[in-house]
Amino acid sequence: MDPELSTDLTDYYARRAREYERIYEKPERQADLAQLTTRLRAEFQRRDVLEIACGTGYWTRAIADTARSVTATDVNAEVLRLARTKDWSGASVRFAVADAFDLHAVTGRFDAAFVGFLWSHLERPRLPALLGQLNVRLAPGSPVIAVDNRYVPGSSTPISRTDEHGDTFQVRKLDDGSHHEIRKNFPDERELRDTLAGLARPVADVHVELLDYFWLLKYQTLA
Ligand SMILES: C[S@@+](CC[C@H](N)C(=O)[O-])C[C@H]1O[C@@H](n2cnc3c(N)ncnc32)[C@H](O)[C@@H]1O
Repeated sequence: MDPELSTDLTDYYARRAREYERIYEKPERQADLAQLTTRLRAEFQRRDVLEIACGTGYWTRAIADTARSVTATDVNAEVLRLARTKDWSGASVRFAVADAFDLHAVTGRFDAAFVGFLWSHLERPRLPALLGQLNVRLAPGSPVIAVDNRYVPGSSTPISRTDEHGDTFQVRKLDDGSHHEIRKNFPDERELRDTLAGLARPVADVHVELLDYFWLLKYQTLA
């Protein structure tokens, strides 16, 4: 691998923070984004939402319009610094630095959770631990929604390599000229369902929706 190629996901998102939301300006994705926004606002209405990997707060902003409260967390203080600068008047939102694999220090009681665009960046064997950590922080019957990208030739960054575990990677360039090799997986519906079926504590009402550019996974926690 090119020695100039950084592979640190946290560093990549810290450096990308200022340019991150440009990804939401791609014209061909606007109809899907509008649909997701409407959907999430309806799903999280009057809920106390725990959001992990909130980044610059793009989805926090959408969800906060209808949720009772949003506790938006990310491992990266730099992205949270930008998220905090958005206009949160009229919304009950708080931010906290937290690794999604270690949520015990996040205070509050939650009856919903949102995971936007983290799933694709994780090694597949780590996903049960991520979801397990999240689910135990939620009341029984809480909806959990994850959203992420589908691979669309011509719109998605091309896949640069596939490793021995089947994880796929993209090489991304930032405005500062740095190059980063980032894990980016594109699970199909079968794989999403299999991941949930493999959780130590079962979940219910699994639902997968495929839009043109994104997938949405929803399930409910059990007692
Ligand atoms: C693709 S961005 C998504 C940001 C936001 N959810 C959105 O959809 O606009 C991925 C985010 O995951 C965060 N992240 C990466 N690993 C994490 C971890 N272990 N725990 C919490 N956040 C993490 C990064 O800092 C980054 O903000």
